Amino acid sequence: MNAYLTDLFCLDARTAVVTGGSSGIGRGIATALARAGAATVIVARGAARVEETVRELSDAGCRVAGVVGDLGTRDGIRAVAEAAAEPFGEPDILVNSAGINIRPPYPAITEADWDATMTVNALAPFLLGQRYATGMAERGYGRLIHISSQQAHRAFVGSGVYGVSKGAVESLMRSEAEAWGGSGVTSNTLVPGFVLTPLNARLQEDPAQIEALAARTMIGRNGVPSDFAAAAVFLAGAGSAYITGHSLFVDGGLSAH
Ligand SMILES: NC(=O)c1ccc[n+]([C@@H]2O[C@H](COP(=O)([O-])OP(=O)(O)OC[C@H]3O[C@@H](n4cnc5c(N)ncnc54)[C@H](OP(=O)(O)O)[C@@H]3O)[C@@H](O)[C@H]2O)c1
Repeated sequence: MNAYLTDLFCLDARTAVVTGGSSGIGRGIATALARAGAATVIVARGAARVEETVRELSDAGCRVAGVVGDLGTRDGIRAVAEAAAEPFGEPDILVNSAGINIRPPYPAITEADWDATMTVNALAPFLLGQRYATGMAERGYGRLIHISSQQAHRAFVGSGVYGVSKGAVESLMRSEAEAWGGSGVTSNTLVPGFVLTPLNARLQEDPAQIEALAARTMIGRNGVPSDFAAAAVFLAGAGSAYITGHSLFVDGGLSAH
């Protein structure tokens, strides 16, 4: 890479934690950060997919480690926060991509659905961000990166509690941006459109619905995890120091159509 691009984007001296880094968008982002030089820790529940992702990135010459943990409970979140700081030290970059999307018909949503969704999708980003950003601020560099959804902005195919949790994520981003402003720590959000990942495997069984969603974009196709690579490297790197509290739509124009 030429020296100019290195200053703007290179992550060689950085450490990153990517929750949900074993699948879909998180895996795409973990791959991008690791290939841009960051020593990257991948967090998820399923050991097999964590190990497979770690192996694939290690084979590609990246510095990468896995942590198997559950962000679905408060104790689990705290345990992950400590364990993920072990392989490479305290992170400079936190990407909150772990998420769940349970969408029963609205009248059937239970308090357990609310608790499960809000814990993984909103509480984990809050607790991990608070835990890591204190050190980031002391060191003068930090990047908090969230993944929200169209549903933070509009109701969309039965948003339910999921939409609530994603609205919370974007408000959390603004609170973090305010809290850490001036300390070298930024907080931003990537807003996907419809991305072909295991999260929405059930929807993908209906080709007509997939085509209809693609037609709602301006680019003319649904998203894939690698669409998030460049945006994530940009928000993780030194070049984005003056951008905070921003929601960047990576959605093929869906939100503007
Ligand atoms: N795909 C889309 O169209 C779309 C659109 C808008 C927003 N998003 C958001 O993008 C993010 C990534 O979604 P995706 O589509 O990439 O989903 P995905 O392929 O299902 O990946 C989700 C990741 O989160 C991990 N995870 C889930 N629950 C967890 C828990 N309790 N503790 C730790 N890790 C957990 C999963 O691993 P384990 O299951 O092994 O734990 C997996 O690595 C989510 O926040 C989602 O809401 C996706």
